[in-house]
Amino acid sequence: MRIGLTYDLREPYLESGLSEEETAEFDRPETIDAIAEALGALGHEPLRIGGIHDLTRALGRDESFDLVFNLAEGLRGTARESQVPALLDAFGIPYTFSGPLTLALALHKAVTKTIVRDQGVATAPFVLIREQEAPPTIPLDYPLFVKPEAEGSGMGIYGQSKVTDRNALDRAVRALRVWRAGPILVESFLPGREFTVGILGSGQDAQPLGVLEIQARSSEDQAAYGYLAKEEYDQRIDYRLVEDDAATQAAALALKTHRILGCQDASRVDIRLDPTGEPCFLEINPLAGLHPVRSDLVILARARGWSYTDLIRAIIHSALERTRGHPLPLERRPTHA
Ligand SMILES: Nc1ncnc2c1ncn2[C@@H]1O[C@H](COP(=O)(O)OP(=O)(O)OP(=O)(O)O)[C@@H](O)[C@H]1O
Ligand SMILES: [Mg+2]
Repeated sequence: MRIGLTYDLREPYLESGLSEEETAEFDRPETIDAIAEALGALGHEPLRIGGIHDLTRALGRDESFDLVFNLAEGLRGTARESQVPALLDAFGIPYTFSGPLTLALALHKAVTKTIVRDQGVATAPFVLIREQEAPPTIPLDYPLFVKPEAEGSGMGIYGQSKVTDRNALDRAVRALRVWRAGPILVESFLPGREFTVGILGSGQDAQPLGVLEIQARSSEDQAAYGYLAKEEYDQRIDYRLVEDDAATQAAALALKTHRILGCQDASRVDIRLDPTGEPCFLEINPLAGLHPVRSDLVILARARGWSYTDLIRAIIHSALERTRGHPLPLERRPTHA
């Protein structure tokens, strides 16, 4: 199959002056190389497209793809991760991973928490501080956790994100506001064990790939698996595949969340235990990082004995099962010109 690859690379943004942290969501060339190599090893023809602007030009030239392997995070807008899948939907081209609604939802942690909580998934109570608002009175007990509502890759998350009094909370909110505009989430701090659960498949076919426990080596990192801990994971974090009772509960919670949100092909769900030992949903990543060495989903797959190609094969298999017979062939698409 001709499989197009859509992605946003880190390098052009670094060159334009953005920092390492500001570009943490975007991909490194080695990720695109690794996916292209895996697709080749699976007998497909990988075609590197790029971001939404490149995709628009390719579609304008009537280039055709049997499937698009979509990693594009998008740069602007509240639904930036949805832009590529929405465009592909309009052209009837099947793609890997979730559709526009799920991707827009999952980018917004407060909205996602409200939806999954409504379906009985435990999640820390929270208050959302909107962009222009002063921090209100927070009707929750300290310690609290302060983080951007719509970022990923640990951006804006450090040891200081855990706050034990109002002054520290105000400081953390101010620091986030200097760094970047956008709503801020204040939640009860979950002090227990942390897991990330990989899910593969869609709907009733979805299954957990495994549960990885994230164990910080220093007390500062125990507060949060944030940006710096993720960057220097090999010195700061131990990853352990776990199958105990708490891990089994975490896997069930992750699977339920993946299904509630209509995630497709793969996702990674972050979970932490509350003071009573109950697993609570932190957030879901329907476009989980796929760096061949350092991304959590890849570390998890490796711990399960899977190669990188095995992981890509499973994602492609899920996308093809789901979209079989679905796309409208090019010649049957209506035109209004
Ligand atoms: N309410 C909380 N209580 C305790 N720790 C928390 C809480 N919220 C977040 N954390 C910590 O901060 C880390 C990062 O938070 P979160 O997963 O929401 O951010 P992210 O940047 O979207 O992550 P990712 O890199 O997975 O995209 C978590 O893995 C956890 O260690
Ligand atoms: Mg996370």
